[in-house]
Amino acid sequence: MNQGKLIGTISRLVMPPKGILAIDESLDTCNKRFLKLGVPQTEEKRREYRELLITVPEIENYISGMILFDETIRQFTNDGKSFISILKEKGIEVGIKVDQGLGDLPSHDGEKITKGLEGIADRLQEYKNMGATFAKWRAVYTISENTPSEDCMKENALLFAKYALICQELDIVPIVEPEILIDGNHSIEKCYEVTARNLDIVFAELQKLDIFIPGIILKTSMVISGKEAEKKSFPDDVAKMTIKCFKEHVPENIGGIVFLSGGQGDLEATLNLDAMHKMGPLPWPLTFSYGRAIQNGALNTWAKDPQNIKMAQILLLAAAKNNSDASVGQYKK
Ligand code: G3H
Repeated sequence: MNQGKLIGTISRLVMPPKGILAIDESLDTCNKRFLKLGVPQTEEKRREYRELLITVPEIENYISGMILFDETIRQFTNDGKSFISILKEKGIEVGIKVDQGLGDLPSHDGEKITKGLEGIADRLQEYKNMGATFAKWRAVYTISENTPSEDCMKENALLFAKYALICQELDIVPIVEPEILIDGNHSIEKCYEVTARNLDIVFAELQKLDIFIPGIILKTSMVISGKEAEKKSFPDDVAKMTIKCFKEHVPENIGGIVFLSGGQGDLEATLNLDAMHKMGPLPWPLTFSYGRAIQNGALNTWAKDPQNIKMAQILLLAAAKNNSDASVGQYKK
């Protein structure tokens, strides 16, 4: 493992005022979003949409890295340039989702375990040869009366550690993404409790395998009430509780922390990140790695009128800029 290389990649990824754009939706997820908007669910349509995202002029001012999906990392623009070469020209780090989605956790009704460890070293080596410098592995947890169970948190943490070890041996920065789902009517306090417990379990497993903590990025959900909760969380509460939770449950020498948007509204995700930075200074680099909260406007516009690439790109750039401003506590409506 080349620790300097891992640290170098991370410092480029979390360098203010930039963040990461996630465009790594699996075929299923991407197709579901297309279906809702009446877009044909074909490889060509997915390529066309991703080309629009990757080629936004000046996106590199706000975006340091993009996370791609296996199909996307192999694709080319209409005029024959590989997506990877476009990102490299812009100085954007190439990331890759390497988990293979979710399976049922045996004997735990409704709980999920992440798939994809088999053959991962070979896949990572191939992505590295193609130019990828970082990877992502996501696990999900549902808050309900009896979940997430200790088993679910432990099993997923073991997988995070094994995945991170293989990444670091190949000098690829592992993004470890434990996502506490926003679905449900739980309170922000309950989300705090679950997030804290899960982070303890995740980092205990990472430490058991001697994972180089300054050489990983934690991608996480915020501490926030459930979507159907009676009491909605305001940015100041989300910021206070999230920062407190990380200060108490994330090692201080972590390479960086980035957020997923997880179904928050676009503005909500921006305001929450902005509020955290207004409470700074923070002990670790903290920025965004949003998918939907940056893509929503562009996707809806393009779905309505696939010829109007310009407007879709303007919206993507604006959303990236808003979150870039929020990542340094400078967002103004
Ligand atoms: O795994 C989730 C993506 O990387 C982030 O997507 O911001 O839409 O939750 P999201």
